[in-house]
Order: sequence, then C-alpha cells, then structure tokens
Amino acid sequence: MNVHAPALADAHLPDEQTSVFAKDAVEDLSQHPKRLSPKYFYDAAGSELFEAITRLPEYYPTRTELGILKECGSAIAAIIPAGAALVEFGAGATTKVRRLLEKSALGAYVPVDISGDFIRGQADALRRDFPRLAVYPVAADFTAPFELPAAIAALPKVGFFPGSTIGNFEPHEACRFLRSARDILGDGALMIVGVDLEKDERVLYHAYNDAAGVTARFNLNVLVRINRELGGNFDLSAFTHRAIYNRERHRIEMHLIAKKSQTVRLLGTSFSFRAGETIHTENSYKYSVERFAALARGAGWKVKETWTDPARMFSVHAMVAVD
Ligand code: AVI
Repeated sequence: MNVHAPALADAHLPDEQTSVFAKDAVEDLSQHPKRLSPKYFYDAAGSELFEAITRLPEYYPTRTELGILKECGSAIAAIIPAGAALVEFGAGATTKVRRLLEKSALGAYVPVDISGDFIRGQADALRRDFPRLAVYPVAADFTAPFELPAAIAALPKVGFFPGSTIGNFEPHEACRFLRSARDILGDGALMIVGVDLEKDERVLYHAYNDAAGVTARFNLNVLVRINRELGGNFDLSAFTHRAIYNRERHRIEMHLIAKKSQTVRLLGTSFSFRAGETIHTENSYKYSVERFAALARGAGWKVKETWTDPARMFSVHAMVAVD
C-alpha cells in the first residue's frame, strides 16, 4: 500500500461530524489490512438499505427477534417492574419496543439516539399511539456516558438493546458498553438485550450474501458516502462485496474486495489497492447463550432469563445489575 501524507488541513470540511468521518476514513484506510467503521454505513440511503435487509427472506434476525418479543412478550413484560422507565439504547425506528409497550405498564420510555431530529419524530409518533406514556427522547451517542432525564430519577430503570447491535461491537467494546449501560441505569436496574446466536454456517452465509444483492449495496454504500461527503474517487464497479463466517472468532466478516489493482484518492491522500485486497467493513459476532452470559457477567450483569425461538436462531436476555 502506498499512502501519502494526509492533507486534511487543506480539505473543506463543513462540520465536525464530517471531519471525524474524514479523519477515521483516512486513518482506517491507512491500516494493514484496510478497514472502515460500520458506523458509517448509516446515512439516509444506508439506513433505508438496512431496513430493506431486515425484510429479506435470508436475513432471519429481525423477524426472529420480533417473533420472540411477540411470543414471549407477556413473560418479558412480567419481569419489568410496574411504572419503570424503559431506556432504549440506539432506539432507531422504535418498532421492537412497541411489542413491549403494548404489554407492560411502563411509567416512561426514554429513546436514546444520536440523531436528535429523528428520535424526536419517533417520540411524537409514540405519544400519539400511547397517549398515557411519558416519552423523554435523548439525543446522544449511546456508546458514551450520557445523562438520563431528571424526570425518571425516581423510577425503576430497565435498559433495552435489541437487534443484536451488540454483535457489531468487538467483544471488549461490548463489555465496555454493557458496563457503561450499567453505570447509567444504576444499581437495581434490569436490561433486556437481543443477541444473535451461532448456527449453521450456511444460514449465516446467505443472511449476509443475499440473492438480491441488497447487502452488497449496503456494504458498497460506505464508498458512495466517502465519494459524496469526502470527495473520494472510489470506482464502485471496481469493488465487490464479500461476507464470510470466521469460525474461530465466531463472527461474520464483511469485506469490500478490490477487483483489480487501482489507486483511490481521498482528501489529498492516495490509497493503492492490489487486486483482491480487502477493506474490512464490519464484524457481526454470533454468541452462544453461555458465552453471552459470561460476557454480561464480566460487565456487571447477571442473566436472569433467556428466551429463544424454537429453532434457537436468536436470543433475548433479561439481566439484572450485580456488583
Ligand atoms: C445492525 N446489525 C445488527 C446488522 C448485523 O446483522 O450485524 C448489520 C448488518 N450488516 C449486514 N447485514 C446486516
């Protein structure tokens, strides 16, 4: 790889987020092997592509988790104390929480999401559909410490982190996140987490290499974004999507593979690619019920109950904060 000195100082960077993206992209493409953070998948187009992924026949996690929340919703709701505040980390479209809101007598719902406008819009929709529920949206990066609204100070706290987003963290990051959630929620808190399970590798392979090519478009969208937002000149037709299961590390890895040798320019820096060279864009860790319980235990949580679908594809865990 041939990387010239970054020229970030010369680049026109409209706002702080773009400059962080620029710094991360230049740094990450300078690594061996090259990589890009999966958090940059989710611009408006990427979020729509992810929504489309969740509806694919091969992508089982979303509908399986929704099925568990529906089938086991009463049992899950039964362990939530009456009048509790439910704090959802990275609330997004709030589809899943509706399954819990329908079944439990919550005192408040606190959706936390980095996108303030989006989460305030979701909060308005929830207030319309659940007029008796107090909704306090928080615009924050849920992976870093943030303040809970003062209005819920006296209520029992229950964290909610569905979608197996925890699988997109490295295990040490997952541990750090769970510990930070424990600190934010406080002693006596509960937390409900959705975790994708290890399974037949062919099922995993097809979930991330769908026949319609939606996951490929989702993966390539990070290059589209670099071109548009950072003035890069990636030739999209010169990269191809690949997802593989890494058995030793219990994870799906997503890569963008250079189809030919080429040089890409970005913010004054040149990045050379050999034919077949990869940009590692995402890991999606798969857990056994036991390995997840051990991870949680190391972060100050004890798994109290676990629900799965009959085929044991996906799991939902209720955990209690311990010392
Ligand atoms: C958001 N996250 C849980 C998804 C996953 O399955 O790891 C992201 C995704 N990547 C490719 N397909 C879906």
